[in-house]
Amino acid sequence: MQAVLAIAAWMPPQPGMAQPGLSDTAMLAATCATCHGPAGRQPSPGGSIPALREQVAAHLLQRLQAMQKHNDPKATVMPQLLQGLSDAQLQALAQWFSEPEPR
Ligand code: HEC
Repeated sequence: MQAVLAIAAWMPPQPGMAQPGLSDTAMLAATCATCHGPAGRQPSPGGSIPALREQVAAHLLQRLQAMQKHNDPKATVMPQLLQGLSDAQLQALAQWFSEPEPR
């Protein structure tokens, strides 16, 4: 039920959106907080949704790109959620979550 509510709260960015600046990235990242916890810190430690904060940016980007291209057979919701995002947005999100504190 929680997952259903979370998906309902998801608003993909619209085509034609400007490339992300800092505040755009923070806004985009806020849509991830529903599941990944505020600022990407895992809401329930040991739960099925991984923490994002302070993971290595290159690793996050590689995971995002793989899931977006449906190259992660274990992924459930992420491949769908990532469909509307550009590669620049994935890079900005990976960078944003890799930093120690949210901007
Ligand atoms: C509806 C809940 C939900 C939302 C919203 C969500 N995620 Fe996820 N995320 C998951 C789940 C569940 C997984 C585990 C993989 C799967 O099942 O798809 C995951 C996995 C990931 C992973 C892989 C982490 C790792 O250590 O392997 C990354 C990176 C990630 N999400 C980034 C994001 C970003 C960035 C956003 C916002 C654009 C986001 N997620 C929004 C539920 C969500």
